[in-house]
Amino acid sequence: MMRKIHLKSFGCQMNKLDSSLVAGALTEQGFALTDKPTEADVIIINTCSVRQHAENRVFSNLGHIKHLKKSRPEILVAVIGCMAQRLGAELLAHEVVDIVAGPTQLHEVPALIRQAMTDHEKHLSVTDKIRQPVADEKIIEAGHKLDDFEIAYDTDSNHIKSQAFIRAMRGCNNFCTYCIVPYVRGPEVSRPPNAIVEQAKKLAAQGIQQITLLGQTVNSYRYESPDKTYTLANLLQQISEIDKVHWVRFITSHPGRFDKSILQVMADNPKVCPYLHIPAQSGSDRILKAMNRGYTADHYIALIDKARAIVPDTAIAGDFIVGFPGETEDDFEQTVELVRRVRYKNAFVFKYSTRPGTHSEKKLEDSISAEVKQQRNTKLLEVISEIAEKDNQRFIGQTMEVLVEGLSKKPHLNVNAEANKNAGAQAPRIFHPQLIGRTAHDYIVVFNGPESLTGQFINVKITKTAPLTLFAELC
Ligand code: 5AD
Ligand code: SF4
Repeated sequence: MMRKIHLKSFGCQMNKLDSSLVAGALTEQGFALTDKPTEADVIIINTCSVRQHAENRVFSNLGHIKHLKKSRPEILVAVIGCMAQRLGAELLAHEVVDIVAGPTQLHEVPALIRQAMTDHEKHLSVTDKIRQPVADEKIIEAGHKLDDFEIAYDTDSNHIKSQAFIRAMRGCNNFCTYCIVPYVRGPEVSRPPNAIVEQAKKLAAQGIQQITLLGQTVNSYRYESPDKTYTLANLLQQISEIDKVHWVRFITSHPGRFDKSILQVMADNPKVCPYLHIPAQSGSDRILKAMNRGYTADHYIALIDKARAIVPDTAIAGDFIVGFPGETEDDFEQTVELVRRVRYKNAFVFKYSTRPGTHSEKKLEDSISAEVKQQRNTKLLEVISEIAEKDNQRFIGQTMEVLVEGLSKKPHLNVNAEANKNAGAQAPRIFHPQLIGRTAHDYIVVFNGPESLTGQFINVKITKTAPLTLFAELC
């Protein structure tokens, strides 16, 4: 009988991609996937270590599994990803955990599962030299091989069949003082450009129309080959030349060494989406320095101005950390000022969380109280939202192209009320479900339409706006 795997993914887009690659490798080896943990023979949890909160959620999940294991003790539990690398043997000692595998060992997961199924032992696979896997060609090769796997399983939903994520690079070399990523994902390794482009072609031939290139600092993609050094701009150009690819985008950018050629390719090529996720983290030079971000607020603003000069109306998204050790009211006000100056399409705000082993954990005191972190978090989100609310109003009446992602998970009353009113007034009483789509600038658009539009590029007319959502009707 086919063994069933249930996969649960925490954390960033990179983790979701890792999960789908592991799922791809497992299905190729004869395992089946199930979305019901109660039916699974193996439960895999792909974990995130970026904030303590993310780790707490994994532990509470393991608590649920403990109950499940009481009635079905034969279930195998594998914990993979960043937490696996960070905690290693400590995590393996947890009563429900059978397998622990770090982000650079994901290619071993199918073999580890088979082994544990036969020997009923616990298995650990993490690297004790996480900052040196570059030297180990075998690990790099195995990682590249896993990256070539078909994206067979979308851990988010099962209806987005028209877009895919492709890894451009792994790891990070920046060592921002607060961040655990370089310690759990290792150094930067860029995939060979031909592997990325070939994968994009294969996916396009299968009907994928939007490709998102992923990397922790994707703009530092560099691949040295005898003929030339390949950059992100080269990748974007080559992927946009694939006929069936309609849109290509990339996340996440680091403002430090952002090459103008990336902006140029965005400006010259309508398939390259005018969207940058480019976290500033803070607007205070003092804090940016303490964070080891490698730029000042002025440098960041100049880069955004340059982006908007070369690619008019580029949508800018960002991340901020509030309550970094030593952040004063004045530092925070400078962040608010930067937000007002940049006018983000949207930005995520995180409360500083001390991560074991990082520079700031070792050298700086987590001095800002939970209350102040919360206050700053709320205030910054309010400012971001107020700006987006104002800026989004300019879209009312505009026709926009969206890629339809599928049914909206939570109903938006505005649209239903509107649609029902219209349906009442006009002859055909067709109540279409609420769909969700995204524009090239990454705006979320909600509108009523037949579910059959899922996966298609269509035009909609914007009728209403909110800070994070645009509401529309079919054209
Ligand atoms: N505490 C809070 N937020 C963090 N991030 C990274 N490390 C931490 C931390 N220790 C945030 C940054 C990053 C995003 C993915 O998570 O804003 O851009
Ligand atoms: Fe972490 Fe900084 Fe690397 Fe981003 S650039 S993953 S914040 S170390």
